[in-house]
Amino acid sequence: MSYARVLGTGSFLPERVVTNADLASTVDTSDEWIVSRTGIRERRIAGPGETTCDLAERAARQALDAAGCLASEIDLVIVATTTPDRVFPGTACLLQERLGIHGPAAFDVQAVCTGFVYALAIAEKFIRTGSAKRALVVGAETMSRIVDWNDRSTCVLFGDGAGAVVVGASDEQGILSSHLHADGAYKDLLTVSTETPERGAASGRITMRGNEVFRMAVTTLDALVGETLAVNDLKKADIRWLVPHQANIRIIAATAKRLGMAMDQVIVTVDRHGNTSAASIPLAFDSGVRDGRIQRGDVVLMEAFGGGLTWGSVLLRY
Ligand code: ACO
Repeated sequence: MSYARVLGTGSFLPERVVTNADLASTVDTSDEWIVSRTGIRERRIAGPGETTCDLAERAARQALDAAGCLASEIDLVIVATTTPDRVFPGTACLLQERLGIHGPAAFDVQAVCTGFVYALAIAEKFIRTGSAKRALVVGAETMSRIVDWNDRSTCVLFGDGAGAVVVGASDEQGILSSHLHADGAYKDLLTVSTETPERGAASGRITMRGNEVFRMAVTTLDALVGETLAVNDLKKADIRWLVPHQANIRIIAATAKRLGMAMDQVIVTVDRHGNTSAASIPLAFDSGVRDGRIQRGDVVLMEAFGGGLTWGSVLLRY
């Protein structure tokens, strides 16, 4: 069996920057509150008519270039998203068509902020078992379309963007392990309901019990980091880079502390991107690769949690 290795990365952000000061002019909030509670300073918001697939396509093309891979060589397309262009077909099918790929499997993964970790883990299984040779794995979101812009407790948190990787079969070790979890008992902590308002739920917009999500995130990520290290028989010091889901700098710092890592070993984009859900890890990963911090051979830990609740990690050698 061959290993599954990341061959190239890419990302894309919409042009429009929305700062905390911009938000303070529409809801009762302040730059000071947002920065001190979350670490977020600004986020990107998709333009009118700019869809999740538009962002995904730009990130995917960059990842294909970086991998030196033709679209025609891709035999699996997975898009992790919670904000698909359509209910169906899946965004992966729309993306596949844009890239001129015809025939190979293409599907979306819906695990909210853990979506990219789920998608990468699935791609690895396809490659390890010989079912695919080159997979395009994308995390792409237009969270701005499901945010309630009148709710200051959530609208300050989210942003839009996309990140992508090409994963290929290789004799060299790449993805070392993946660990996926979910517990639907916590479905109401963080949700977008499509139920009618008469049934007691806000329809079509994010609602979140932020405090409880925060506590669950810290606890589950703590256990997840322990599980990932134990399965690989690794010490904390063996991990060179932490690429966490970018929801809140305080949650990220708690995980880094658990790993005994200094913050300069953590790729942080939450200050500039906000929480881009399934796009946050591939966006952060690509930023670390492109600015030269993450080097070939480095051991990288990706970890995420999100609606579901879902949580998971991927440990890889870049
Ligand atoms: N500006 C100013 N005040 C605010 C704002 C705001 N934007 N939002 C809430 N407040 C107020 C609240 O109304 C409350 O006021 P009160 O004390 O008068 O009632 C006060 O600030 C404190 O609110 P809390 O919710 O207790 O604030 P907390 O310190 O918990 O921070 C936060 C809130 C940042 C949301 C935090 O709970 C958090 O980060 N939770 C995790 C959220 C997360 O990561 N979600 C994404 C998961 S990933 C996914 O799947 C999408």
